[in-house]
Amino acid sequence: MAAAHALDRHVVLVGFMGAGKTTVGADVARRLGREFVDVDDEVARAEGPIWELFQERGEAAFRELEARFARDACARREPAVIALGGGAVETRELLTGLDVLVVYVHVDVDTAWARVQGSDRPLARDETEFRARYERRQPLYAEIAEARARDADDVVLAAAGVHVERGALRRLGDLVPGDDPVALVSDPHVAGIHGADAQLALGRRLASTHELPLGEEAKTVAAIEGLWQELTIPRRGVVAALGGGCTTDAAGFAAATWLRGVPWVPVPSSLVGQVDAAIGGKTAIDLPSGKNLVGAFHWPARVVIDPALLETLPAEQRREGMAEVVKTGLLAGEPLWELPDDELVRRCAAFKSAVCLRDPREAGERAILNLGHTFAHALEAAAGYEGVTHGRAVALGLLAALRLSGKTTAIVEEVLEPKPVRVDRERAWAALQRDKKRGLVLLGDDGPVWDVRLPPEDVRRALDDLIAG
Ligand SMILES: NC(=O)c1ccc[n+]([C@@H]2O[C@H](COP(=O)([O-])OP(=O)(O)OC[C@H]3O[C@@H](n4cnc5c(N)ncnc54)[C@H](O)[C@@H]3O)[C@@H](O)[C@H]2O)c1
Ligand SMILES: [Zn+2]
Repeated sequence: MAAAHALDRHVVLVGFMGAGKTTVGADVARRLGREFVDVDDEVARAEGPIWELFQERGEAAFRELEARFARDACARREPAVIALGGGAVETRELLTGLDVLVVYVHVDVDTAWARVQGSDRPLARDETEFRARYERRQPLYAEIAEARARDADDVVLAAAGVHVERGALRRLGDLVPGDDPVALVSDPHVAGIHGADAQLALGRRLASTHELPLGEEAKTVAAIEGLWQELTIPRRGVVAALGGGCTTDAAGFAAATWLRGVPWVPVPSSLVGQVDAAIGGKTAIDLPSGKNLVGAFHWPARVVIDPALLETLPAEQRREGMAEVVKTGLLAGEPLWELPDDELVRRCAAFKSAVCLRDPREAGERAILNLGHTFAHALEAAAGYEGVTHGRAVALGLLAALRLSGKTTAIVEEVLEPKPVRVDRERAWAALQRDKKRGLVLLGDDGPVWDVRLPPEDVRRALDDLIAG
């Protein structure tokens, strides 16, 4: 089964002239930390202006040239972002045999025409002809591409294999890559609400259904052993995990270990899951001595996000997710928490996807996703993981991180309304010091910085300010 992501492949952008492939491509490349190759530019640099090539040698000769440069670009070793010219898809064998992720950057014909009319593009002179060509090309783009995008966020999501679509659950059978049997894992609560839709959508691919215990109980050796004993899917089978972050963390770990690793597809149903837990390929279970101590990096073959699932999510679970949304917005430097659900989920998922694609194994900058979390973990540990939810602890942790960054805390106060917790100060401080090997994540003037060392008395004061009494 071919995975739907581009973790270690080129991302190739196709689309009509005026779709913005160059702008979007450059933006995506920057966000993924990859090189950007604009094939039209390469051709022009080597052979002269494209309109001249068209005039002097004709379209067929230009297409041959273009195909050669496109294949050269795809032969690069380091995964890059490559934009093809609008007409490249007319060379049918152009991308055959190449293991690249093709994304169709879509634009409507009116916008495209408005953007290119009067330019020096040889095929943008006559409007009627332009529109006819647009119609003719649509099916070619759709046929060659694995994903469709309107903007850079969509391309980043496609590169991570993340599919965000209202109603996606009902198309799960089509969205799980390949045609192999699927083991569906859920928790009893989510299975009761959305399990039947998932089973129906998987149809004849459904091999078995499994339930993990609710909440963190799913992330135990005992629960995973139970799941291992139930699984029967073969090496080419797929684990689909429908549920919150506990279900996807545990089922993802089971997938990473079953038969030494089978592909998996998280279908996150909680806000925490859709904006955070299901993205980036970290899977884990807990031990009595600490959370997430046993796990694996196992990038999902695809992530299927259906924001409609959030409609059944209890309010307190939504608040848990909003803490991670505010964290993401602060990191991105944009008020993502103000967006309506579908867009909020799409933008947050894209932000995390880009960070994780740049640093899939957390060698460095992925640490920024821990903004506020050093303090949060200390408070949770001091509370013995009871009475203080992760979301509440993160809201407080964000206050501390913002204060230490010299930034206003107004947004966090307003959106998350954090209340100081009653925990033992010494216990919290001891826990924070155990966690401090990594340094702190703060917000600098040019974005997040990580591994920051501050004087212990400042850190202690910031922690104390989060504790009541
Ligand atoms: N792997 C990662 O990168 C990563 C990142 C963040 C968090 N996590 C992990 O995620 C876990 C927390 O995830 P969570 O907050 O989603 O917890 P969860 O999985 O326990 O789900 C929370 C509750 O919401 C219910 N629920 C979920 N979706 C629902 C829906 N659509 N309708 C009604 N009820 C629904 C669940 O049944 C559960 O009771 C933690 O274990 C954390 O370590 C992992
Ligand atoms: Zn968190």
